[in-house]
Amino acid sequence: MNETIKLQLAHKTVRKFKEEKIQEEDINTLLEVCNRTATSTGMQQYSIIRIKDKSKKEKLTEIATQGYLENCPELFVFIVDVFRNKKIAEELGFKGDTYKDMDRFFQGFTDASLAAQNMTIALESMGMGAVYFGSILNDNEEVCNILKLPELTFPVFAVGFGYPDQEPQIKPRMDMKLKVFEDEYKVFENYLEEVKEYDEEMTHYYDTRANGQRSDTFSKQVLKRFEDINEKRRNVMKVIEKQGFKIK
Ligand SMILES: Cc1cc2nc3c(=O)[nH]c(=O)nc-3n(C[C@H](O)[C@H](O)[C@H](O)COP(=O)(O)O)c2cc1C
Repeated sequence: MNETIKLQLAHKTVRKFKEEKIQEEDINTLLEVCNRTATSTGMQQYSIIRIKDKSKKEKLTEIATQGYLENCPELFVFIVDVFRNKKIAEELGFKGDTYKDMDRFFQGFTDASLAAQNMTIALESMGMGAVYFGSILNDNEEVCNILKLPELTFPVFAVGFGYPDQEPQIKPRMDMKLKVFEDEYKVFENYLEEVKEYDEEMTHYYDTRANGQRSDTFSKQVLKRFEDINEKRRNVMKVIEKQGFKIK
């Protein structure tokens, strides 16, 4: 097995970091990796906002309700960005409004996600660790305000990273037979039955991770996620529309 694959198969989210600063040279390397990532139709419809301001970090921590966000040595917010290309087209005399299409939004969302993941692999190869913060979308409208996001931009997630100060266990994944198919989608008879073994594995994982303090299964987590409702996240389309995209 080559070193890249070994690294990818050893992936784990890191949520506790040393105070050690990351060299600017390394930050630049990571940004170059983002820049080199494949991008839908070559349009590069994403941007990255590096958070340096302490008060902004505090506000994002409040929104995420995850205290460890504040202690991430580096925090990059990845955003969908169609604004830049709109400007370019308008400066060339473009009069239409097709830049508002949801198709563009999804292209930008995908671009941002791929760049972030490419960066994550790169930083893991440099001995660092990272955590994604989808939780900043708990109040996506406020994130737009805090970051002064113009029209045709929208936050995707933040990535916090640095040198790990913990050694998390590898988190189990469900059997690939449930998510990898040939030629067409496969619907199973009984999903609870199919994930039974995985549920047991997850219970064991939490038992050892939380010293028996947490008893949980994957299926219970799914239920909890669907039951826990955040109205601001559920109304995400309203904010996307407010940011100038055309929902239709
Ligand atoms: C899009 C996305 C958003 C995530 N958001 C959060 C988050 O808000 N807070 C957090 O602690 N972890 C977050 N995670 C990390 C996941 O919880 C983690 O990847 C998952 O539990 C699997 O664990 P592992 O990465 O250690 O294998 C996020 C991951 C992804 C891909």
